[in-house]
Amino acid sequence: MLHLPLYVQGAWLVGAMMFIFGLKGMGSPTTARKGIVWAGVGMLVAIIGTFLVPDLNNIALILLALVMGASAAWISGKKVQMTDMPQMVAIYNGMGGGAAAAIAAIEFAKAGRLHESHDTVTVVLAVLGALIGSVSFTGSCVAFAKLQGLMKKAHRLPAQNFVNIGLAVLAVVLGVLMVISAPAGIALVVAFFVVALVLGVVVTMPIGGADMPVVISLFNAFTGLAVGFEGYVLSNPALIIAGIVVGAAGTLLTQLMAKAMNRPISNILFTPITGEAQGGAAIEGTMKELNAMDAAALMRYASKVIIVPGYGMAVAHAQHKVWEMAGLLEKAGVEVKFAIHPVAGRMPGHMNVLLAEAGVPYDKIFDLEEINEEFAQADVALIIGANDVVNPSARTDKSSPIYGMPILNADAAQNVIVIKRGKGTGYSGVENALFYTDNCRMLYGDAQPMAGEIIQNLKTLE
Ligand code: TAP
Repeated sequence: MLHLPLYVQGAWLVGAMMFIFGLKGMGSPTTARKGIVWAGVGMLVAIIGTFLVPDLNNIALILLALVMGASAAWISGKKVQMTDMPQMVAIYNGMGGGAAAAIAAIEFAKAGRLHESHDTVTVVLAVLGALIGSVSFTGSCVAFAKLQGLMKKAHRLPAQNFVNIGLAVLAVVLGVLMVISAPAGIALVVAFFVVALVLGVVVTMPIGGADMPVVISLFNAFTGLAVGFEGYVLSNPALIIAGIVVGAAGTLLTQLMAKAMNRPISNILFTPITGEAQGGAAIEGTMKELNAMDAAALMRYASKVIIVPGYGMAVAHAQHKVWEMAGLLEKAGVEVKFAIHPVAGRMPGHMNVLLAEAGVPYDKIFDLEEINEEFAQADVALIIGANDVVNPSARTDKSSPIYGMPILNADAAQNVIVIKRGKGTGYSGVENALFYTDNCRMLYGDAQPMAGEIIQNLKTLE
């Protein structure tokens, strides 16, 4: 880095600092859009800095790659549905890991240039970056294929955990050989990359689709780490800082999600569940139905309604109708709040993004800790396509697979209305005790037309 002109180093540093400001902005919904722009401009500054490197080679190739990458990102970014966002993140993240691994591959392929021009620490970091980046690349591709529905089943090998550990050990041994056999022969380098790439596939194959967001976040942390290591190899501060930021953010997000689901990372990786979990104590009582008119009247004459959106609202694209319904209630003098569980839906911030898209003001959206006490004062808790995040068994039933997961206390409201299509369970596959309680009524139907029916009925009550 030291032999590069100050303006190049400066541009990279400014780019890296803008990534950090961008990430800070993304910490709150009100500044998130600005944060994205900051990070994007930071990336532009870093790219411009790269073009200012004296004696830069292969400019035409770099430009071609930029045009190809930017066009693919622009088109897919414009077209992607909000519900398809997890697989979009997975594939982009995989590209980052793949790019880090590719940098290392090129460095090793240059007939041992790494060993001549760098110290052992650099070579070790190059190998580590290559390993982690390769796993993240193929793992993220498998995650994408599963979430996109291209790979329907979770494939578990016999003695899966031994295979995983065996491949990981083999990759590490090959990596160590690459470090000590300076310069590493091409056969060794190829064998190392093949094993690392296969490891990513094999680790990810048995993981069920609904655990994927956590795994994607874990791979995101991996990619950050790999990029940071390769940044060190290339003496590029923008890559180092961006890698550290992504690595740290990915690690924290993974931990938060795993905690909110009450599933240790080790369980997700080594004893995955695939959405067919069973268990939990038998539930007594019956589910009681109501119609859209009754639901409208119950809410219209309430003082306070708390709406709990879940995965079903996302699938039904019902957020706009839900917000229209909330507006009518507010017009009638009802206090309306939205309660968001940290793992409602299938990706971090899923519900926040959908509600923001529908125009729900941020001051009406509350996190679990902020709103949980308030359910006891609510006349109605309206649950729209949510299930696991309001299942009281998580508090009381030690035999339930979701025991220990913090939940929204919707059951504490005077009346609970649940909009869902039928008797389907949630992601965890367990029955929901809430639906059988005396104060709970089921409004069966797809969330979007159901919200529409409530709106029509509210209008007749005006
Ligand atoms: P779920 O527990 O998955 O329940 C969703 C419910 O929506 C289902 O019971 C389903 O019942 C209903 N539904 C489906 N389509 C619908 C539609 N078109 N209209 C109306 N209802 C519909 O959702 P949740 O409460 O949001 O919980 C999320 C779950 O995902 C948690 O278990 C969480 O641990 C897991 N998870 C979350 C994340 C993140 S980061 N958010 C990551 C991994 C896993 P019917 O079939 O009867 O309609």
